[in-house]
Amino acid sequence: MAGSADEPAPGEGGVRIAVPRERQPGERRVALVPSALRPLLAAGLNVRVETGAGLEAGYSDAAYSEAGATVAGGPGELFAGAGLVLHVGPPDAGEIAALPQGVTLVGLLRASSHIPLLESLAARGVDVHSLELLPRITRAQEMDVLSSMANATGYHAVLMAAVRLPSFMPLLMTAAGTIRPARVLVIGAGVAGLQAIATAKRLGAVVEAFDVRPAVREQVESLGARFVDTGVEAAETGTGYAQALSGEAEERERAVLARHVAEASCVITTALIAGREAPRLITAEMVSAMRPGSVIVDLAAPGGGNCELTKPGEEVEVSGVRICGQTDLESRMATDTSQLFANNLVRFVLHLVRDGRVRDDLDDEILGATCVVHAGTLRGAAAPGPAPSA
Ligand code: NAI
Repeated sequence: MAGSADEPAPGEGGVRIAVPRERQPGERRVALVPSALRPLLAAGLNVRVETGAGLEAGYSDAAYSEAGATVAGGPGELFAGAGLVLHVGPPDAGEIAALPQGVTLVGLLRASSHIPLLESLAARGVDVHSLELLPRITRAQEMDVLSSMANATGYHAVLMAAVRLPSFMPLLMTAAGTIRPARVLVIGAGVAGLQAIATAKRLGAVVEAFDVRPAVREQVESLGARFVDTGVEAAETGTGYAQALSGEAEERERAVLARHVAEASCVITTALIAGREAPRLITAEMVSAMRPGSVIVDLAAPGGGNCELTKPGEEVEVSGVRICGQTDLESRMATDTSQLFANNLVRFVLHLVRDGRVRDDLDDEILGATCVVHAGTLRGAAAPGPAPSA
């Protein structure tokens, strides 16, 4: 349908969206996939995609062209005339230098961890929306990239563990004897944890799980897993996250979990507290009590890890126990995670763009919460000073 970058694309005259290739090392995802373009084009927007942007996720330039996008060369050509730039992760310095003044950048930018990046975007006059800050309200659920990615990581974590275990996951009764099922312990039963429980159950493991939010017990049990009673509970913030435990409560939790960790052949940890380091729930001593061949997959590694021996980004072996701290699980499933990310992003863009322009209505609950750079100034979660409470 669309041809070279100079030809008018469908919807010419509306806001032009630019989709660059992701440049962060190890990132295979792409912000928009061909099947997600239709609602944007129908809304009168036009889409320009950088050459090769979707290749690592399995989406060819031809597929984007067929879906109605224009395929463009490097950042200079890509960004010319753009009103909106869509990213998965942060742009690199070369892209920032090519961004036109007044453009709006949207992505999963982990704003509070990238303040210098936001400052350079502010200096270029780029407005920024960071999607991890989406409020957890019903209206924003269809935009919730964090949940989409957590679903993928929870699933993938169990598969990583399964291929590393020197044993089967399910019960096996054969003429050669009976193999007992693997015992899987999931710590933190939010979006990723619940998906990990469901996946481990499907593989036939015996699954136990724990979360500090008492409301989760029912969800864990409805998936056929056993809820571990530690006697430790934390309140939920108004935004659906757990509140941090006191040091003493965390100690009590560790004391109860120690026995369950020692009995598990596989532990998946996902416990996170918004805006803080991940709680350390598995000590070196607890690891040394596990059987050799056991596996820990620490999905909290990007926040420092739930296990004190986790090395974020790496896989290590300590006294025969494999501890997986890889932080690129979403990227390992880039075809589907890009599709889910794109579907979420399209809902956000259709909320952001109205009447042929990018809105800067910061009184809007969704736009106000996600906007971290506006009119050259850092604001909201990225503003200097004490972080707003979750
Ligand atoms: P998360 O990734 O921030 O945390 C993961 C889990 O770790 C949470 O369930 C948390 O309670 C748990 N945790 C924290 N400290 C712990 C500790 N010391 N020990 C054990 N577990 C601990 O949370 P996630 O998965 O992003 O979301 C949590 C909940 O928020 C979801 O289950 C859901 O109920 C709600 N939610 C609501 C949304 C909406 O209304 N739009 C969207 C997404 C989630």
